[in-house]
Amino acid sequence: MTDTHTLRWCDEDGGWLELLDQTLLPQQIQFIECRDVETVAEAIEMLRVRGAPAIGVAAAYGVVVSARRALSQSAIEFRQSIERDIERLAATRPTAVNLFWALEQMRSALDHVSGDNQAVSDQLLAAAHGVCEDDKNLCQRMGMHGADLIRDGSTILTHCNAGALATAGWGTALGVIYAAAGQGKTLRVYADETRPLLQGARLTAWELSQANVDVTVLCDGAAASLFAAGEIDAVIVGSDRIAANGDVANKIGTLGVAILAQQFDVAFYVAAPTSTVDLELASGDLIPIEQRAASEVTEGFGRRTVPDGVQVYNPAFDVTPHRWVSAIITEHGVARAPFEPTLREWGTAIPAGTQA
Ligand code: MRU
Repeated sequence: MTDTHTLRWCDEDGGWLELLDQTLLPQQIQFIECRDVETVAEAIEMLRVRGAPAIGVAAAYGVVVSARRALSQSAIEFRQSIERDIERLAATRPTAVNLFWALEQMRSALDHVSGDNQAVSDQLLAAAHGVCEDDKNLCQRMGMHGADLIRDGSTILTHCNAGALATAGWGTALGVIYAAAGQGKTLRVYADETRPLLQGARLTAWELSQANVDVTVLCDGAAASLFAAGEIDAVIVGSDRIAANGDVANKIGTLGVAILAQQFDVAFYVAAPTSTVDLELASGDLIPIEQRAASEVTEGFGRRTVPDGVQVYNPAFDVTPHRWVSAIITEHGVARAPFEPTLREWGTAIPAGTQA
């Protein structure tokens, strides 16, 4: 796992959130100082911080940034301004449910603390640290449960980045790989490049190579030939939201990988904490899918790559039906079909009215 931190709270100088700007990887390691909520919100929208759990942790600290900015206001204005900022953070990205889950933790902390503004702000910081520490622990536990599924000598395909860069810990899908490698298993990883923003090529390949895991990048369209050649033993991906029936939203292109895995009789594993499970949604067709700017597709390699005027389809996520999911690895253990009873036992319901 990389030594570079994805995000951290800095106590000096009134307190601020530091985020690794992931849009600059792998060429540059540069951090952003978030001293106001707009900087946090912009960082989430622009994918400077991304990956469902990391978005949630960044938003939790964003609420503390909000409180720190409003300390000199009256108690009523202080709380109103934090509420407004929670709404702003909730409006950044619609699919990853961890964002709403983390904001709900912070709203609940706000509702339950009393005292002057400084005391409330300190309590919010403690709550955000709790969200962050929980995420680290969940990653460890998922890794341990998932590692048991991985045989020594396996070749694993992953899509997007569900590693240390996507969480406060060592990742979900990649956490399983780190845990299996830590058990002494020899692994080979294929990382889909993950068009259009190249989280696989830029981020997964970066962090796995830093951790000395054998990693090979391929264009998304090359995955089918790898399956056909019998090269893949298992697929492991993360998730942005899992419906009550086990349908899984993840980075666009995941559905295609799941279909390939099904076709070629390869296990398709999803690693995600229960804060990714949305029991309010019965099935995946209800998951809101973020549509992103056309420019992410029309511009690449430092120039325009699509003719002017051509329309673009750019959903950020797709939904894999639960029937193609072999298992869901959570911090509680490994769930298999039928998923719903287990997810209902383990999952965290999102209280109504907290989502954007
Ligand atoms: O658009 P992104 O980069 O935020 O999408 C991230 C993913 O799809 C990840 O696979 C998912 O959030 C799981 S991260 C542990």
